[in-house]
Amino acid sequence: MAGAVLIAVRGVTKVYSRGGVDIRILDALDLDIAAGSYTALMGPSGSGKTTLLNLLGALDRPDAGAIVVGGEDITTFDDGALAAWRARTVGFIFQLYNLLPVLRAIDNVALPLQLFGLPRRERRRRAATALDLVGLGDRMEHYPSELSGGQEQRVAIARAIVTDPTFLLADEPTGDLDPTSSTGILDLLDQLHRDLGKTILMVTHSHTAAERAEQIVHLENGRIAPGEAA
Ligand SMILES: Nc1ncnc2c1ncn2[C@@H]1O[C@H](COP(=O)(O)OP(=O)(O)OP(=O)(O)O)[C@@H](O)[C@H]1O
Ligand SMILES: [Mg+2]
Repeated sequence: MAGAVLIAVRGVTKVYSRGGVDIRILDALDLDIAAGSYTALMGPSGSGKTTLLNLLGALDRPDAGAIVVGGEDITTFDDGALAAWRARTVGFIFQLYNLLPVLRAIDNVALPLQLFGLPRRERRRRAATALDLVGLGDRMEHYPSELSGGQEQRVAIARAIVTDPTFLLADEPTGDLDPTSSTGILDLLDQLHRDLGKTILMVTHSHTAAERAEQIVHLENGRIAPGEAA
């Protein structure tokens, strides 16, 4: 079950400027994510869910506010420190998998380990372990084009966990899948949470998917709507 606060988002504001007009997507947003928790983030299209995930995963920086992870405010890190932190700490899962088509499954999964200075053999060994875990031990040498959508997403999840990150950020991980494949992916996320103790934040438009999480939070008007815990 959930423990101490792992991620504390405090007063985070993100403004996009377009055509000379500022749009405040996130407006002094506060959110706590407990270590070992599984949270679903819902909200209308355009409400800023992906924007928030990108900030939590240090793919982007807020205009104001603090993002404190394990006691460190990552908004104070310089770009180099932030990239190193991201590689160690965050696993990303995207709606459209984002696999590299020219690489076999095992090499897609091994890719994030290149930043860790491990020999190729060790990278492939760890990638094979991750692919076994997601049930694709028999598809390691397949290219993404030779896999189903559900299998591609499993490869993407293996890639997200191969570095043993502190938390997983999933942006509509079942958004492009049929119901059966979706259920398989949600079962896998349950397993990562329950058996491996992974902290998961999942954006979804699906109530069926959101109900798998321990808590559901709603993004509205740039903030987390109060009192919506599941
Ligand atoms: N790089 C950018 N430059 C300008 N505006 C942006 C940029 N990225 C996102 N936006 C705007 O910010 C708003 C929030 O976008 P975001 O992608 O976070 O929404 P979302 O909640 O993830 O929506 P969806 O459910 O459709 O994925 C949108 O109005 C979008 O047009
Ligand atoms: Mg989005």
